[in-house]
Amino acid sequence: MARPAKNAQSNSGKKLTQSVLRLDGSNSAPRKCHACGMSFSPCIPSDNNLHEKYHTLHLNGRKWSLKWGDIVERYHLSRESNEVPLTDPRLAKKRGMWLRSSLSPTLNHDYIVHISASRKNEVMATLDIMKIVNDELRAPQNENHFWSHLYERDGINEYEGQNTPTGAAFVYVSNKRAVGVITLEYLNPRDERGRWMIYDTAGIVSNVKPSFKLGISRIWVCKEQRGRGIGTRLLEAARKHAVPGTELEKLDIAWSQPSESGGKLAKSYNSVVHQKSGKVLIPCYV
Ligand SMILES: CC(C)(COP(=O)(O)OP(=O)(O)OC[C@H]1O[C@@H](n2cnc3c(N)ncnc32)[C@H](O)[C@@H]1OP(=O)(O)O)[C@@H](O)C(=O)NCCC(=O)NCCS
Ligand SMILES: [Zn+2]
Repeated sequence: MARPAKNAQSNSGKKLTQSVLRLDGSNSAPRKCHACGMSFSPCIPSDNNLHEKYHTLHLNGRKWSLKWGDIVERYHLSRESNEVPLTDPRLAKKRGMWLRSSLSPTLNHDYIVHISASRKNEVMATLDIMKIVNDELRAPQNENHFWSHLYERDGINEYEGQNTPTGAAFVYVSNKRAVGVITLEYLNPRDERGRWMIYDTAGIVSNVKPSFKLGISRIWVCKEQRGRGIGTRLLEAARKHAVPGTELEKLDIAWSQPSESGGKLAKSYNSVVHQKSGKVLIPCYV
């Protein structure tokens, strides 16, 4: 039988708090989902729905319309892929299952699109992904203006369609979902923002200001698709297409405060070994 909670008795004179009786025996305490990191109360339907949406975005990316973005790279499955179980993407990648394709796109092809700053729908769809990315990286949400016509008003991103973008955004699409994204800023050599970062210690080499052309603001791949080479493909798309008409060198691209996995990707993609010290250096910008 239900009893009033101790602190709700009328003669106690203390602050009253409402207790919730659950007859189904379930626990209404919030819990944290280890896969997507969201805290939610499984017993509250609206919370549950919210978590489901957030969870899918984190793990599988966002639904993506065929109309959004200009295709800059395409990839298709080789015949060999039939022998490779799709459930083991690392193995598939190692065996060279994914190839660059010059064929026209079909629904089965993976591809990378360049986001046009002036097309609101694709910008807003990219922004949905950026929210997830920034949550995961614990990074500010308001750094989207350089690749789009977005600006921030009262903490909310709005689209105005006027400022000239000083960067670029690319989205990786697989199975009609955006599963990865990279945003890049054009670096002006006069600003002297380039630095070398020592991979082991994350320390910055003092007194040296190398010149880099493109800064990676964010790079992200949804959890279920990591380790398939998508991060590397996004970097290559940026190298070739971020500056229209110019194919950059890998060492023209710099990282900003790489995360742990970002550091590993940087080490694999464009680190250098300092001859004298033998230390691995990563191109960075501040
Ligand atoms: C960093 C990130 C984008 C990498 O994407 P990805 O598609 O898994 O990267 P790739 O498959 O192209 O990795 C290429 C190489 O980088 C290295 N690498 C990348 N992520 C790694 C990880 N988590 N652990 C170890 N090595 C890693 C490996 O050498 C890998 O080659 P291999 O698979 O043959 O070993 C992805 O892990 C991610 O989204 N992380 C969360 C967001 C983030 O931290 N972004 C970086 C901000 S600076
Ligand atoms: Zn979750």
